Amino acid sequence: MKALAVLKAVAVVLLGWAALALPGWAQTPAQPVDVLHWLTSASERRAANQLSAILAANGVQWRDAAIPGGGGMAAVKVLKSRVLMGDSPDVAQLIGTTLTEWADVGLVLPLNAVASRQRWAQTLFPTVMDLVSYNGMVIAAPLGIHRINTLLYNRRLFARIGLPPPTTWAEFEVVVRKLTALGIQPLAWSDEPWQIATVFEAVLLSDAGPALYRELIVQRKSSAWMDPRVERALVRLRWLRNINGETPREQAWTDAARELLVGKVAMMVMGDWAKGELMAWGASPSKDFGCVVLPGTENTHLYSIDTLAMLANGHHREATQEKVAELVSSTPAQLAYNRIKGSVPVQRDIDVASLDSCARDSWASFADPRTARVPSLAHRMAADESIKDAVAQTLWRYLTDPRMEPVEAQRRLAAVIRAPTAER
Ligand code: BGC
Repeated sequence: MKALAVLKAVAVVLLGWAALALPGWAQTPAQPVDVLHWLTSASERRAANQLSAILAANGVQWRDAAIPGGGGMAAVKVLKSRVLMGDSPDVAQLIGTTLTEWADVGLVLPLNAVASRQRWAQTLFPTVMDLVSYNGMVIAAPLGIHRINTLLYNRRLFARIGLPPPTTWAEFEVVVRKLTALGIQPLAWSDEPWQIATVFEAVLLSDAGPALYRELIVQRKSSAWMDPRVERALVRLRWLRNINGETPREQAWTDAARELLVGKVAMMVMGDWAKGELMAWGASPSKDFGCVVLPGTENTHLYSIDTLAMLANGHHREATQEKVAELVSSTPAQLAYNRIKGSVPVQRDIDVASLDSCARDSWASFADPRTARVPSLAHRMAADESIKDAVAQTLWRYLTDPRMEPVEAQRRLAAVIRAPTAER
């Protein structure tokens, strides 16, 4: 099985993407599609280029509308204004709840025909299939599954302190003490609100456990936010922010990952797109860095699933848009894209032997029926843009105002989290 996967990968490299051309499609003149996305870091760009090459080999021209900005903060705003002005792109990196809202008002092209041709109901993970389904419609093509509860570490620095990566918070504290004694900063940090929210939700999952996490984030029960386990997560978040002994600042996630690579910091809590970035810079997950789950989050998978939606915009490109959906969800595209992006394929019947060890762990964990799979709030899987932003702003305020007690942050979080039913 493994040999076959390697052989396929080699064939793809040797023969180029033309090898993946679906019958009949390569011969017709190239059909353009405008694609709006935020895949702009080194690894993200390469992953997007990979998709664009696969489309080109199949007669589809990817016209790029990339909007830089980690977490898609700027891209989503541009996309919304383009849609309001009647200038929707053909394809958009549209994820999570915004996707369902837009499908609800007819802005998204249903992909039921593609889904049934490719047997998505049988081949995709049920969590992924649920995410792209709404009122009997299939509303997006899934690209890959990211894991947010990821702790990346610099192997050279851990060899220096002679300790394995921490599996409990007690071990984490020992690691921090040893690193600090050697003058090494323990943790990459950025005060960008979306990055704070990303770290927070992983810590929250650790301190609250999956059942309470679901009450807080999925059912959005305001009262649950006053639970002492939330307070513990907030206290830990503040501690993590301050362990470097420097005044924390805002920096792009790529700059934080660079600090990990060059050994300025020893650890980083971030979605596994940071692993993709390290690999794009030539680092190896077996030699230079490693990845484990954040302490206290074993047997859980905090996920963010990237999807491409085909927008209804009067360009009469429906056939090409369907082709895009079909191509990006095909097995070779899934393997080629996710290998670069840092995420894992959305299919449950795929051979992941050719992926790196972090990816294999993430995929196996997502596939394991005993794993608690919980959606990311910071990456739009659980609530809309306005709730996500309000939570991130509240956390930012709490961290940047040392006088704010955790209980006050809990009260504010309880207020900005509205239950799904109360929204309608
Ligand atoms: C997306 C990832 C992306 C990351 C950083 C997340 O919201 O799901 O694909 O790499 O933001 O920009």
